[in-house]
Amino acid sequence: MSIYDIYVIYALYFAPLCNIPGSTISKLTTAKMNMHAFLGLISDFSEDEYFSRGDIFTMAPNAVAISNPTDCRAVLTSHRFVKSEMYAGFEAAEQNIFSTRSPDLSRTRRKQVGPAFTNLYLNDMEPIILETGIMALKDKWDGEIASSPSGQATVCYAIHFMMVTLDVFGALGFGQRFHALRDNKSKMVHWIEDYSKLAMACVAYSRADTFPTSLFLRRLIKSREEFLAFGMAAAELRRNQLRNGDFEKPKDLLQILIDSQDPDSKFKMTDAQVTAENTIFMVAGSDTTSQTMTWVLHFLLLHPDVLHRATEEVRQAFPRHHLITYAEGKAHLPYLEACIFESMRIRPVSGFPMPRVVPEGGATFQGHYLPAGTMLGVNVSGVNNHASLWSNPRKFMPERFLDDEKAKNNILTFSSGVRVCPGRVLAQYEMVTILANILKDYDLALPEDSLFTPEKRDVYGNPIPMPRFQCLTVGPKYPERDCRIVISPAPEY
Ligand code: HEM
Repeated sequence: MSIYDIYVIYALYFAPLCNIPGSTISKLTTAKMNMHAFLGLISDFSEDEYFSRGDIFTMAPNAVAISNPTDCRAVLTSHRFVKSEMYAGFEAAEQNIFSTRSPDLSRTRRKQVGPAFTNLYLNDMEPIILETGIMALKDKWDGEIASSPSGQATVCYAIHFMMVTLDVFGALGFGQRFHALRDNKSKMVHWIEDYSKLAMACVAYSRADTFPTSLFLRRLIKSREEFLAFGMAAAELRRNQLRNGDFEKPKDLLQILIDSQDPDSKFKMTDAQVTAENTIFMVAGSDTTSQTMTWVLHFLLLHPDVLHRATEEVRQAFPRHHLITYAEGKAHLPYLEACIFESMRIRPVSGFPMPRVVPEGGATFQGHYLPAGTMLGVNVSGVNNHASLWSNPRKFMPERFLDDEKAKNNILTFSSGVRVCPGRVLAQYEMVTILANILKDYDLALPEDSLFTPEKRDVYGNPIPMPRFQCLTVGPKYPERDCRIVISPAPEY
């Protein structure tokens, strides 16, 4: 009997995780998980595995994913299950709020940045969010329509949403106007893309950005350095402006990072720490928000009855030339909000089961004991489709979120507990203002040559969504092909 045979017998019949449902290959190697990650299909994998294997399944020899809502919340509620080493890939020079595995640093940073994401502060930032968000997008779309003899234009909404969220964050986080949407380009697009790719390389191999593997990743490392240098320069510029007496303190994220104190020591963050936080906000907050909006619009276009109802709701609630703010949208557009939540349920952009580590003493889930050190993936897709929470989970049904605050708390798209997404309300400010005003001001239609239409249905009778691809976040695989939309001005009413 070879060593290999012994390993196989051990892994399949004696290893601590051997009785957990899962494919044989996942019990033997990381190949299946890695291959799905490499192909950008990890969210399809975690969703399919939930549907076929249930509340717990093996992802790799030492990695298990859980999908039961109660189990998942129990893991996320405390700092006992720390983030796995994979998060070190998101560190650049300094630890940051996203990458840190230290409960103490996490608590400190969350107290420091928390106020920035409250309604009180976000209301003060809303003029910037509107100006660089929906108003800039409307300028762009109106310009495209004006330059087209037919009175309508075809645009790629996925790319416009990406540019617009960069512009919003450029203004809030760096105090600068990027004009990515207006100019159709920005260095920031490449910086974020490269930062994400480097992070993913480090997720696969934690020291990927050090010698000798760094030799192969030189371009990405240089790009990340440029991004950090840009962030440092923005922080220094702000401090210099503040030294100048007649400079009025802006109400933005950069300022709150500069001003915020460690609640215990009363120390403020250094420029390097401010930059570490600011850049990770940009990485964690821009693609997530733009891709969520992309999925919302895609699902509306695949469900004309839903699009019609959401459009009618907006047009009945607001006059044609009124700019809808977040508070107004939240108060008067419950159906649009439900559409956003249903899209976030069915297409969570954070598709990878969030990796945590089983603490000393081990833990038991679904009757299976997991020894300390096991990698535990909290499966967002599993919870968002879980049979105990959702009927007919594969169907896009915004009604499930109408008048049901509990349902909104049942999705795991923003995570939950001690490491819940701090930027979730900011994301909603952007999404509600952009989507509500678009529906009010434009008639939207799919181009005739669209591949994914309301008529093209799957075996369950639901319209087939465009294919997705996951690098850090889950977006459309072919945005230029699948995210085109014909826009024309809404009639006066
Ligand atoms: C629709 C948009 C968004 C979605 C779906 C989303 C989702 C998530 C999820 C699932 C996590 C937990 C990740 C994990 O534990 O592995 C997270 C964490 C985080 N998000 Fe978001 N996010 C969004 C927007 C934003 C925005 C706009 C910002 C900031 C400007 C932001 C900043 C962060 C940060 C800093 C963390 C780390 C928190 C911690 O570990 O304590 N996110 N987000």
